Amino acid sequence: SPVAMGSGAFTLVLALALVAYVTPEERKLSGLWRNELDSLMEISAVRDNGDFQGKYLTRVTLAGGCARASPLRGAQQQPGEGGWPTFAFTVRWDKFSNATTAFAGQCFVDTGGKETLTTMWLLREAVGSLEEDWKATRVGRNVFTRKRIRKGKILPSLSPSCEDTSSPAP
Ligand code: BTN
Repeated sequence: SPVAMGSGAFTLVLALALVAYVTPEERKLSGLWRNELDSLMEISAVRDNGDFQGKYLTRVTLAGGCARASPLRGAQQQPGEGGWPTFAFTVRWDKFSNATTAFAGQCFVDTGGKETLTTMWLLREAVGSLEEDWKATRVGRNVFTRKRIRKGKILPSLSPSCEDTSSPAP
């Protein structure tokens, strides 16, 4: 009947509105990203409160040696009306380094839908004494764009040589 059809259409519109309202902000940061150094990061889970985590695989290291995919944890600000969200995250370099990096940035989307994350970072390396503290922190900028390929086992598979040499055989 027309009444049933009407309520069906209403439910559909309601569902679409709900999806449109709920998903975009959660999706903005999740996924695979690459910066101008060719480093990769995969943000796997963005929670309702903005907390997120993932893995970071740097293409460069202070010592010049191999890197390993390292855990990242961060928080995304709830964006205001029409605004792009700011965020910050830390990477605790796992096993291959004692250093820690903090990134802070913002997500932008251009009219063509291309997403860009602009960030500034502080890289803190461990030094042996208070006298060396002055030289322990580097600062820089990284710009990330979304890398559109399957997520999941991408990070490990893109660094086979380093992952192979640094992790013990099972
Ligand atoms: C280390 O070498 O001790 C840790 C790795 C540091 C990698 C830095 S973090 C900032 C910059 N952006 C990257 O993608 N890699 C470098």
